[in-house]
Amino acid sequence: MAKKLFVKTYGCQMNVYDSERMHGVMAAEGYEPTDRAEEADLILLNTCHIREKAAEKVYSELGRLKPLKEARPDLKIGVAGCVAQAEGEEILRRQPAVDFAVGPQAYHRLPALVANGGVDTEFPLEDKFLRMPAAPRRRAPTAFLTVQEGCDKFCAFCVVPYTRGAEVSRPAARLLGEARALAEQGVREITLLGQNVNAYHGEGPDGGDWTLARLLREIAGIEGIERLRYTTSHPNDMSDDLIAAHGELEKLMPYLHLPVQSGSDRVLKAMNRRHRADDYLALIERIRAARPDIALSGDFIVGFPGETEAEFAQTLALAEAVGYGSAFTFKYSSRPGTPAAGVGEQVPEPVKDERLARLNAVISRDQKAFQTSMVGRRLPVLVEKAGRLDGQMVGKSPWLHAVHFLAPAETAGQVVMVDVVESGPNSLSGRLAA
Ligand code: 5AD
Ligand code: SF4
Repeated sequence: MAKKLFVKTYGCQMNVYDSERMHGVMAAEGYEPTDRAEEADLILLNTCHIREKAAEKVYSELGRLKPLKEARPDLKIGVAGCVAQAEGEEILRRQPAVDFAVGPQAYHRLPALVANGGVDTEFPLEDKFLRMPAAPRRRAPTAFLTVQEGCDKFCAFCVVPYTRGAEVSRPAARLLGEARALAEQGVREITLLGQNVNAYHGEGPDGGDWTLARLLREIAGIEGIERLRYTTSHPNDMSDDLIAAHGELEKLMPYLHLPVQSGSDRVLKAMNRRHRADDYLALIERIRAARPDIALSGDFIVGFPGETEAEFAQTLALAEAVGYGSAFTFKYSSRPGTPAAGVGEQVPEPVKDERLARLNAVISRDQKAFQTSMVGRRLPVLVEKAGRLDGQMVGKSPWLHAVHFLAPAETAGQVVMVDVVESGPNSLSGRLAA
């Protein structure tokens, strides 16, 4: 009987993609996926280290898994991802139920770790994905594709440059091959992933360096691919050719995640973001000039050490000025080993809570207004799957709104036109256009 693998994924979309590829590696070793930890022969936690809370979840989940291991000593438990990279040895010390820890750049060596245990947090020079067979896919019209990993930006608060390592771009020919294979399997929308995806500069088939814009143009030419997205980006890497691509490529969806973190120049400098608030606003203006219907999303950190009320007010003002389609907001969390850790005056927790609530109020007001503005419009919707109600299908608008409507099941995987009738708390509903 085939062995069973249960993977629990935390954190960002790159982890989601890595988890899929780990299923691929272990499928070649005879493991089938399961979504029940109780019946697994191998349990992998694919972890996130970005904020303190995310890292703590791993230890509590391991505590919950311990009885499974006690009942069945042949069960293997492994910790993957950024917590494994940052504190692999410590995990094995703190939780003896764990057999091995594997960092994000060593996943192709998973079978050896499963067999022998231990810690592998090396940063090999090779492209790990080259040695990771693709997992058999569940039929879905959308897919992720990691094109770049790591980050050289060293924002003062961020662990990514330490857990994921230096910026590495995968060769373009390999990515085009993977994109074609996805299209052949019925994928209509690909989201290109990278911690700093717009800094992509991979080797092209012609030997020269390809930019993200070039890569997007080529993937847009693949038959069957109808939508492209990319995430996540740093403002300083929004090059002219990438901005131009937003104007030229109809398949590139008009929705851009462009984190700014703060609206205060003093805080941005302390964060080592290397741009001012005005630079960001001017950039958004240029992007909107190239693609007028583009919507923005972003990331914000409130309560960075030393942030004053006046500085926070500048963040609020920036959020108001941009008018985000959506955004992620976080309270600053000190991460061991980062330049900001232990430096400067910590903002008290209740102040962080209060600032977060005020920022969220602005963001959710704008998000709601944007969603409501879709009512009465005819939108192209990529149909993903059946909805909860009888005969209902659900898909995504160009701006990632969930859209519900009555339609035949055969529309799954197609882009159809939907007249939007109503805006609910979390989704739109409408009628299939004739
Ligand atoms: N504390 C709070 N938020 C953080 N982020 C990254 N590091 C931290 C931290 N130490 C946020 C940033 C980043 C997003 C992925 O997570 O906003 O863009
Ligand atoms: Fe972290 Fe993003 Fe800054 Fe890189 S650019 S250090 S991943 S916040």
